[in-house]
Order: sequence, then C-alpha cells, then structure tokens
Amino acid sequence: MNPSALLPLVVIFMSPVTSETVDPSVEDLINRNSDFAARLYRAVASRTDDNVFLSPFALIAGLTALMSATNGSTQDQLLQGLTLSGLDPQTLPDLFQNLTTVVLKGGRTRTLWQGAALLPAQNFPVSPSYQDLVQTKFRGSVQSLAFTVPQEAVNTINRWAQEQTGDLVKEVVTTLDPQTQLLLATVASYQTRFSPAFNSSQSLAERFYVDRYHVAMVTMMFRSDKYFLAYDRLVKVGVLKLPMTDGAAMLVVLPDEGVDVSAVEEEVTAEKIQAWIKRLKKTKLEVQVPRFLLERSYSLKEILQTLDITQVFQDDADIADMGGAKGPRLTQVLHKSIVSVDESSDDITTEGRVNVFSTPPPRLTINRPFIFVIYQQTTGSLLFIGRVVDPTRK
Ligand SMILES: *[C@@H]1O[C@H](CO)[C@@H](O)[C@H](O)[C@H]1NC(C)=O
Ligand SMILES: *[C@@H]1O[C@H](CO)[C@@H](O)[C@H](O)[C@H]1NC(C)=O
Ligand SMILES: *[C@@H]1O[C@H](CO)[C@@H](O)[C@H](O)[C@H]1NC(C)=O
Repeated sequence: MNPSALLPLVVIFMSPVTSETVDPSVEDLINRNSDFAARLYRAVASRTDDNVFLSPFALIAGLTALMSATNGSTQDQLLQGLTLSGLDPQTLPDLFQNLTTVVLKGGRTRTLWQGAALLPAQNFPVSPSYQDLVQTKFRGSVQSLAFTVPQEAVNTINRWAQEQTGDLVKEVVTTLDPQTQLLLATVASYQTRFSPAFNSSQSLAERFYVDRYHVAMVTMMFRSDKYFLAYDRLVKVGVLKLPMTDGAAMLVVLPDEGVDVSAVEEEVTAEKIQAWIKRLKKTKLEVQVPRFLLERSYSLKEILQTLDITQVFQDDADIADMGGAKGPRLTQVLHKSIVSVDESSDDITTEGRVNVFSTPPPRLTINRPFIFVIYQQTTGSLLFIGRVVDPTRK
C-alpha cells in the first residue's frame, strides 16, 4: 500500500477537535488572562479557609478598561500586573473586543451574565471618548457618582449590579466612604446546565466531609455515563470534566483522600489547568456531585497589591482620562459573583436517559473539599474559578 494514502487520515486526526479557529493574538490574550486568573485565585485562596468563587473574566475586563485610562508608569505597572506587558496599550481595547466576541459570542449567554463599571466621583470629569471606549470595547460602563451622599451611591451601584446579572446579584456594597475617588465594580453570575444532564429524581442526601471534624449533609446529584477523567500523580488529584450545553465545561479537581485542598492550590497555574484538560480520557463512570450555590463578595485592593498592582491606588496615580491634570486614584475594587450548580438542564437528549452498563463502572464521589474551574471549551478561556469547602454554605 502506498504510504502517502495514509496521510490525509493522519491530518484529520491531528487537527483540533473544534472547527472554530481562534486568531493567534486572541489566543495569546486568553493565555495571559488565564495566567492572571490563576495568580489571583491563589492569592485569594491562600487568605481564607472558606469557599471561594471568582469571575476573572469580568475582573480582567474592568481592569483592562481602567488600564486604557491610565498613562505613564501607572499604565506600565497595570500591564505588567495583568500579564499584558509587551502588548500595545493602544490596540488592547480592540483586541479585548475581539476576545469578547469569541468568548461570549458577542453578548451574554443565557447562563452567563457579567458587568464591569468604573465609578469616579463627580469632581473627576470623564472624557466622552473614554466613556465610549469602555462601552464598545469592554462592554462596561463609566458613571460619575456623588459619594458625598453615600447611601444614594450604594443604591445606584446595587441597582446596576442587579441589571447586569439578571437580578441575581442584589447587593455589592452596603457602605461607602464619602471620600471615595474611584471605584471599580465587577459582577457576574453563572447557572450550570450540564450535558449530559443530572436527573433530579436520582439525587440523594449524602455526607460531605468538610474536614476531619465536620460532616455536612448535602444533595448529591448522580449520573452514570461516559465522562472525561484524568489523574495527576504528582499533585495527587483526580480531574473530572462536566460539559455544559452552552459550550462551557466545569473541571472538578478533587484531591486524594488525606491531601489538603490548600496544598493542591499552590500548584494551580494556567499551564497546570491546560495540562489537566489535555490529559482527560473518556471512561465509564458513576459520578456524584453535590448541588451548591456560592455567592462570594470581595474587596480586592489588598489582593491586587500583592500581585504588584499598587500605583493605581496611590495619590500619584496617573489616570489621565479622568479629571484632566489631577485625576483620581483607584479607591477600591469590588467583585461579586454567584454560581448555581444543580440539575437544571436544557439537554433534552440525555435528560431522561438512565444508562445501565453491563458491569457497574467505578464511582467518583465528590464528597470532600474540591477546586472547580469553568472554562469555554473551544478557546480554553477561563471564566470562573473557585473552591468548595462546604457546599451547604454560600
Ligand atoms: C480584531 O479583529 C479584526 C477582525 O478579525 C481584525 O481585523 C483586527 O486586527 C483585530 N484587532 C486586534 C487588535 O487584534
Ligand atoms: C500620556 O503621557 C504622554 C507622555 O508622557 C503624553 O504625551 C500624553 O499626552 C499623555 N496622555 C494623556 C491622556 O494625558
Ligand atoms: C429520571 O430517572 C427516572 C428513573 O430513576 C426516570 O423514571 C425519569 O423518567 C427520569 N426523569 C427525567 C425528567 O428525566
């Protein structure tokens, strides 16, 4: 047989599974964003024993929009902190717009809502061209607020958050400092729609081992099906992929019994997440995943400072597009996101199907603290990242 006859087949098998090709400059931005997201997650997670939930994508949109308003060393430092150094700040807004088109298909999906707002005090006038840039390139908004009337400012921000998240995020702030010069607020919400779907009539109350001394009763969803699974011997974690109908997937990262979730967290980098995704193999599995709802709120100033984003918070911050000669400094970064993980699905092809395998496959029960990552499958873009220590707590 002529060996060259084999060639087309090889080419077909080696080409990516997805038909969508992502522009190399967008792919580069996705990788840079994932790197920042993983560093942010490690910084937040290392400071708490509680559940964690972050929406890096919404935060990066807000911070990159802010970067576009800055100048000089304030801008250089923001670029570096966001892993964007080397990119041209002039074309970054267009590049970000291209990214959003690919990742969010140009707009909101029915499952994912998010928003970013830059909120300067009224004595810092904003140029109309900058306002327009934030809207068109970052899908964000710039709005002047009278922080000297804190209660009104609080109400305005909370109303905005509701609008951005389909009423899910109701309250981002309760109090504000009347001296506030500039706030960045970022919000997001996500509702899982697993495919294959979990069937709620198979969900059961089960134990979840929060730590050595605490057990919580949770609702465990169940499905027997073919799943993608990987095992990382070095980090001692199992990695399960749960695909969703909107093209995203959740990676559940479960430490081996006796391995502390915080030890695993130190290893969570963008490259590690990518390596896990590449290593996934299809296997028959009985999967048990707890239902949970996380609602997490963060003031990120200190965290961002540990990631070497400091100057924008200082009096000599150079935020040239606001207030002319003497612009504001960034006072605080508010971040709130909600995720609801349950049996909701619009996957009519698998909803009622109950698989019966001739021999019962192994069972993977997510019944101890785990890390999860929600990413877009076609681009690998990281949308959310979190940690569940206790599924019964928000
Ligand atoms: C954004 O996409 C358009 C259309 O594909 C392209 O012409 C443009 O160069 C891209 N912009 C950047 C900054 O990559
Ligand atoms: C930014 O800085 C450069 C040089 O330092 C200056 O020419 C430019 O006008 C500044 N931009 C704004 C918007 O102030
Ligand atoms: C769920 O599974 C049960 C069997 O346990 C089946 O009878 C039922 O039709 C399924 N329901 C849905 C909505 O898929």
